[in-house]
Order: sequence, then structure tokens, then C-alpha cells
Amino acid sequence: MTNHPDEAIPANEAALIERLVEQSLELLDKGTVPVFRGQHPKHHGCVRAEFQVDSGLDAGLRHGLFAKPGRFPAVIRFSNAAMNDDRKGDGHGMAIKLFDVPGDKLLGTGDTHDFVLLDHPVFFAGSVSGYVDLFDALINAKDSVLPKLAFFLPQFIAELGHVYFTYLRHHPDQLAIMKAMMAKHPETPLNQRFWSTTPYRLGPHVVRWSVQPHASLLKPLKPVDSPDKLRLALAQQLGEGEAAFDFMVQLRTDPATMPIEDPTREWTGASMRKLATLHIPKQKPDTPELMEFCEHLSFNIWRCLPEHEPLGGINRARRAIYEAVSRKRHELNKRPEHEPTAKEFLALHKA
Ligand code: HEM
Repeated sequence: MTNHPDEAIPANEAALIERLVEQSLELLDKGTVPVFRGQHPKHHGCVRAEFQVDSGLDAGLRHGLFAKPGRFPAVIRFSNAAMNDDRKGDGHGMAIKLFDVPGDKLLGTGDTHDFVLLDHPVFFAGSVSGYVDLFDALINAKDSVLPKLAFFLPQFIAELGHVYFTYLRHHPDQLAIMKAMMAKHPETPLNQRFWSTTPYRLGPHVVRWSVQPHASLLKPLKPVDSPDKLRLALAQQLGEGEAAFDFMVQLRTDPATMPIEDPTREWTGASMRKLATLHIPKQKPDTPELMEFCEHLSFNIWRCLPEHEPLGGINRARRAIYEAVSRKRHELNKRPEHEPTAKEFLALHKA
């Protein structure tokens, strides 16, 4: 594919990406069995869903997945960015894999299509070099910092005095985003808003993905004080009833204030448009078999139709990073990398 005209690729980007791949491989904690993801290691459930593309979309929005009304089976992996104790402030992930999507993808040969979202509208690094500099500061701070993924910890200034003084205090905007990102204390993943933070194509448009929960569908939560409170909340609410999210896009309206190359900028003036609904039926999402299934899944934003190509430096870097880290993780766990089918996933839900 040709690059979007608003993409600006620095001459040294390939070298920076190579460095980020090395740093991300180091983040894998090789001491656990299985070896978990280096980022977003803990998940709360392996949720069965159906992605229903709206009928009657404006002609201008009908591209790729959204070209015509349709329904795709899906799996959702809800995760913490870094914390093992769900009671602590953290960022949270929602990774969605659609099955049975026909057509060539930008990565892989299968029928799956991935979206990867966070519960914050912007990302804390605006460029690949910004991310590399932060990682370098962390690596230089002290050996124990890297395995703990300490930059996600809520008291990171106290814990990472060195990084704060050598890097973060010179980058107040990045510091402010990281603090806000890590300050989330959701009661349930089913009532959070999530964003892609980085841009994608929707045919000729530039968009960010965003999902919004249907709060009114949710069963009231019984309070629990547990490090696994998000898994318990998911299991309780989906054990008693259904849930849903609207799948929306923020449509870029002004390239000057919504640049492709800077995901730290909030797209306040973007127009929000709904494209689909994610229906989540009543179910038990946390059986040991399902938790294991999601453990060994791989998400990659490049596993998508060309009409939804990821845009901007951070997304360009993520292709090689997620590929390399997933390969290494599977190698260490002695599990062949495998894109599952809907049939395999749904069989676990019926078992
Ligand atoms: C250059 C910047 C980034 C780097 C180096 C990075 C690195 C990683 C790595 C290494 C993983 C684990 C992958 C695996 O083991 O299969 C991961 C997972 C994840 N990342 Fe990123 N990431 C970046 C940017 C982002 C952005 C912009 C988002 C915003 C949505 C994001 C959201 C997530 C989520 C939700 C997961 C968990 C996916 C899952 O459930 O498997 N990351 N990231």
C-alpha cells in the first residue's frame, strides 16, 4: 500500500523500530509458566461476542468491514495494562478479534480481523523516538525497573525517581497522559469507554476507533474486594445477563489539529459516528479452558483489511513489535502460533 499523504516517516525510523523490538522482547518475564505478555499480561475473561455492522450506514462510511450489513462472531480479551491487583489504578485493554471476515489482510492469511483498544483517548508517546527515549531512560534507571514495567505504576514518580529526573520531568505532556491513563479504577470492564488512540483508514477517511458501553443493559454489581475483582465482575454480570458496546469512529475533520503522526493529541472536534454493535450474550467467560485460550491468542492491529490500514509511526512500529513478541512468547511456551477459527472458540464456550 502507498503511505497516506499525511504520514511523515523519519529517515531513522527503521532503526528505531528495531531498537523497540529488542526492548519489547526484554520485557517478557521469562520466569513465569506460562510466559505472559510483556504488556497487558493479565486478562479478566475470554468473552464471546457478535459484531453486527449497522444497516443504513451513510454511503461515505461503507468501506471494508462496514461495506454492507453483516454479523461476525468475535472474541474479546479484556486486560490490565500492567497491574496484577485490579484494585490498583491502571490502564485497561480491550482486544477484539473478529472471525470469518473474508478478503486479504495486511498481515497473515486467515479470516480473522483485530482491533486493539485502551480505556484512554490518547497514547502517552507521540512518536517512535519518544517511546524509545522513554524506554532508554527506564533501562538506564535500574535493572529491576524493566521486568516490573514500572512506568505504568501509579506512584511512578516516587518509584522511578531517576527516570522522573532524567526524562519525564522534561516531558510534562507525556507525564500528564501517563498519570491520567494509569489512574483508572473501573468496577467492571463492561462499563468502560475504549479508544484506539492511534489512527486508521476507513477507506478514504482517517479515523480512530472507539467503543461505548450500553450501561443500561448491565446487571447491578455486587461489590467484591479482590485482586481479581474485574474477572469476578465480568463473570457475575455476564452470568446474569447480556452486555453491548457501540462500535464508533472519530472521523478526522481537520488534519491540522488532528495530525496522523501524534497520538498524544486528543481529537476533540472529530465527528463521532456509529458503525456497528458488539453484542455480548449471557455466558461464563472465565472457565480455565477459556482463560487459557485467551492466554495464547495474539492480537495485531495489522491483521486487518487494507481499507482499515493502521496509520502513523506508533502503528507502523507495532507491526514488527507485536509479531516478534508474540513469536517469542509462543516459542518460550512451546505453543505453535495459531490463528483460531470461530468453530474452535465457540466449542470452548459450549463445553
Ligand atoms: C510503540 C508503542 C507500543 C509498544 C512498544 C507496545 C507493545 C506491546 C506489547 C509488546 C504487547 C504484548 C503483545 C503480545 O505479547 O502478544 C502489547 C499489547 C497490547 N497493547 Fe501495545 N504497544 C504499543 C502501543 C500501543 C497502543 C497505542 C495501544 C492503544 C490501543 C496499545 C494497546 C495494547 C493492548 C490493549 C494490548 C493487549 C493485547 C492483547 O489482549 O493481547 N499498545 N503492546
